[in-house]
Order: sequence, then structure tokens, then C-alpha cells
Amino acid sequence: MKSFDIVVIGSGVAGLYFSLHAAEHGSVGIITKKELMESNTNYAQGGIAAVIDTATDSPDLHIKDTLEAGAGLCDVSNVNHLVEEGPIHIRRLVEMGVGFNRDHGHFSLGLEGGHSARRIVFARDATGKAVERALVFNERRTENVTAFESMVAMDLIVDRGRCIGVMCLDRENGNVEAFFAKAVVLATGGLGQVYVNTTNPRIASGDGIAMAYRAGAVMQDMEFVQFHPTTLDKRYKPHFLISEAVRGEGGVLINSKGERFMHRYHPSKDLAPRDVVARAILGERKSGPVYLDISKRPSRFIRERFASIFDQLWWYGVRMDREPIPVSPAAHYCCGGVRVDDHGRTSLEGLYALGETACTGVHGANRLASNSLLECLVYSARAVSVVTEDMRKTQSHETEVPKRPISPERADVRRIRRSVRSMMWRNVGIVRSVPGMKRTIKTLNDLNERVQSLLKEGVNVPLLELRNIVEAARLITTAAIMRRESRGVHYVKELPERNDERWRCHILLRQDYDPICQPVE
Ligand code: FAD
Ligand code: SIN
Repeated sequence: MKSFDIVVIGSGVAGLYFSLHAAEHGSVGIITKKELMESNTNYAQGGIAAVIDTATDSPDLHIKDTLEAGAGLCDVSNVNHLVEEGPIHIRRLVEMGVGFNRDHGHFSLGLEGGHSARRIVFARDATGKAVERALVFNERRTENVTAFESMVAMDLIVDRGRCIGVMCLDRENGNVEAFFAKAVVLATGGLGQVYVNTTNPRIASGDGIAMAYRAGAVMQDMEFVQFHPTTLDKRYKPHFLISEAVRGEGGVLINSKGERFMHRYHPSKDLAPRDVVARAILGERKSGPVYLDISKRPSRFIRERFASIFDQLWWYGVRMDREPIPVSPAAHYCCGGVRVDDHGRTSLEGLYALGETACTGVHGANRLASNSLLECLVYSARAVSVVTEDMRKTQSHETEVPKRPISPERADVRRIRRSVRSMMWRNVGIVRSVPGMKRTIKTLNDLNERVQSLLKEGVNVPLLELRNIVEAARLITTAAIMRRESRGVHYVKELPERNDERWRCHILLRQDYDPICQPVE
């Protein structure tokens, strides 16, 4: 058993940025599933959106672009905070050692889909790695923070309606251990692993979302899973992301006849919103492969600006400065999550959520490119005052927690994992259908029972991840069935594009698993 003022689950940008600020007020324990660096953050390419150059850009423009991408469902007040407070955190990252690209001393600014001005600060094409490294470096020099690597959070500990800690499985020695705290902060990232094709690393199995749901917190907007249009499409290769910044620097999409096609789908052509580009690629792929071509730009520019992508593609046998890159879409980002207010409070006392796990409502029905790292920074910083005040008012408090046996991994788990991920891709993916979603929820409910019975035999990491993948898939599918329209990234072939009703789906754990839909003001 271990005890801290604050326990933070997750060591991506949200968890680390929060911890570094909160450590000034009390002891912080960070729990993380693998090594500190392993996170979605570490793979972020394009950059961070922020209004830097006020001669060509303005907060109003950034707000307008965010709201347009969000298809009428953004929380406008939270979008205002996001945009207004963003630039402060870019400067703070620089102070912490992040080396963003510069041009004559000023930040170089990139362009991505849906942005009406150049406003993406970047560190070549590996922005996430630069940010994560600097945060880990600072964490190692901060006395009040203790990190526990290879520690997998299993379940939140709730006592008399308050979250007071988390049960973890230490993957090094197989021990189950309880961490208690005056405040618990979830920063476990996304759920890309729910889908067979994803840009997300293995850690992104929706653990925080599923844990919070099981503990009784309200979930919001779970139907809105964003698919990135351009990942490397080569058999037996992972869906390695080809950043939208490649299109921002002149890359174009072409079909199997070598023709450009995006003008037929959207006036912004190759820089149309992600959902439009992903569906267009899916359509074009019916008659053959689709490619992203930037080979017209000088080789030197490509190798310099997209150094990491160039190297990876070279490794996979593609010369992006000489030939088009075969691409296809993959699951990328969860716009919904654990519902929080503008300071990270969830509906469960003592529990806070940040970053991709949380839903502040800033992304609405579709996230604007490079607004995610921004949200992690802004809302992690905003949470510090509220969490530390809660911490000061709260007495530490521990309870007995049941012991859980460890069981060996079973082949069944791998099989169920594969089938859930493929089914979600087919039926609750980029293009959805009502009968497909209804079939899926039935199968997921059956699989959930099977997972519950396996859990009675004991726990192990693959089984814990499977439980969360199935839970997250159920949340996505339930919310998707509830939404009787197509909106943003939720596209159902039989249902018309957005109607005038503006409501969002809140889901709360109840015996009958009944979602509550609330109108948005
Ligand atoms: P993460 O960075 O994913 O961190 C989650 C942490 O929680 C990890 O440390 C993980 O190990 C830990 N964890 C998870 N489950 C458990 C558990 N059960 N127990 C203990 N620890 C756990 N966004 C942008 O704005 N700009 C970009 O350019 C961009 N590019 C991207 C490129 C790729 C390939 C991907 C995948 C995403 C990209 N995104 C981008 C999205 C953005 O990177 C993420 O949304 C953001 O980094 C999420 O940060 P986070 O701190 O919330 O979660
Ligand atoms: C990218 O570089 O295309 C990813 C940007 C993002 O997800 O915001």
C-alpha cells in the first residue's frame, strides 16, 4: 500500500504537465503502465495549435475554426479558454526545454486541415517526442514527484461516494497494490486499440474511461471517434501516421488512376476536415489504392521538415521524396470521454480527468487538428488549483481492498481481442449502419459476460486491457446508436447529416445500461 496527496494515472503530456505544476503543493505519485515515455503523446507528429502570429491570425479565427470542425457540438466557453490560454503554455514548454522549430528567431508555423491560418508550432515532425522528453526530464528533477513505471491501474477505489485511490497490478513482480490519495487524477489517454486499424500504441486501450465508468462517473460524447485519413497502407506494416502537415506543405491525395480527387468532396480539397478526407479515401479505395504525394517538393526540404516520417518510410521501403505513399485511414482520437467541468472535475467526488481521457467538450463532434496537445496543456494547468484545494480540505483515508489472484494469460483473450477490434472497425467505424451497430452491441454484451467470467479466475494485463477495450467499445456503440443523425465523425449511411437538435449523450453505469441524452444549451 502507498499513499500520496495526489495520485496521477498516466505519464503523457496531460499527466506530466499537471504533476509538475501540482508538485509545488503536495506529494504526487505517477502511475504508468509501461515506461514513462510510452504514450500517445510520444508519437504526436504535426504539432500544437496556438495563436502566435497576431498579424495573420487571431483568437477569434482559431475559435471559429474549432467550432466549425466540432459541427455544432463544442462547448463554446471551454473553447474560449482553450484558445485564449494556449499561447502561455507554448512559452512555458519552451522554458521547460522544448525546442520548437524557428525561423529568424520566430516560431515556424505549420498548417493543417480546417485551420484558416498558419498556427501550428512544431518540433520537426516529432513534436510529441520533444514535449514528452522535456517533461520527463523535468519530472526527474522534481523532488515531490515519484513515478511508478510498469504499474497498471486496474480499478478505482471508491468509498462512500468518493474516489480515494486506485488498485494496480505491478507487471514486474505480479503483485496487486493499492495507492491511496486525497485526489485521484486520470490521464490515461485514448482508446485507439478498440479498433483493428489505429495510429495509437498498445497502451491506448481506454483504461481510464472504462475505470471511471465502472466507478460511476458520467461519460460524454463517446460516439465521436476520429479517424485519421492518412496512415501507411502496406500489408504487414503498422498504421504508421503520415502527418496532416504533409498535406499542409503541399502533399496531395491521388487515386489509383493517378488523379487528384479531393476537389469532388470539399472546397478545401486536400485540407478538408479529417472526417471528410477519411470518407473520401474510403470511397476511392473501392476502385484501388490511394496515395499521398509530396514528391514534387524538393528532396532536401522533405528530408529536413519530415525527418522522422522520411526515415520510417525508408525503413518500410517507401521513398517519399521520389514516389507517392500508399495511405488508408485508421482510428486516431477519442473526442468524448469522462465528462469534466472547466477545471477537470468529474461527476465523482475526488476524481479528476485530463487530456484525451477527459471530455471538456472542446472538440464537439470532430476535433480540429493539433488541438489535442493544446487541450492537454490548458486543462491540466487549469485543474491544478482545484485539485490542490480539494487535497488541502481532505483527510487521507484508506480502506481494506479485496485481494485478487493473478491468472496466466489465455489464448481466448487474444481471440476475443482480435474479434472485437475487427467488428468495431467494420460496424462502428468510419461509415456506420444502424443494423451493424445493433448487432455489435448484442455481441459486445455477450463478450462482456465471457470477460467477466474469465476475471473470476484471476487477473493479468492482457485480460485487464481486454475488459477495458470491450467496455470502451460498448460505450462507443451505445452512444452511436442513440444518435439518430450523422454529425461530425459519427457518419451513419442511412441517417441524414446533422439536424437542428443539439444534444449530447451522457452515459452512466446503471443496471439497464440506459444512456441519458441531455440537450446542449
Ligand atoms: P497519453 O499521451 O496517451 O498518455 C496516457 C498515459 O497513460 C500513458 O503514459 C499510458 O501508459 C498511461 N496509461 C494508460 N492506461 C494506464 C493504466 N491502466 N495504468 C497506468 N497507466 C496507464 N495531437 C495534437 O494535438 N497534435 C498532433 O500532432 C498529434 N499527433 C498525433 C499522432 C499520433 C500518432 C497519435 C496517436 C496522436 C496524435 N495526437 C496529436 C493526439 C495526441 O497525441 C493525444 O491526444 C495526446 O497526446 C494525449 O495525451 P494524454 O496525456 O491525454 O495521453
Ligand atoms: C497529424 O500530425 O496529422 C496529427 C495531428 C493531430 O492529430 O492533431
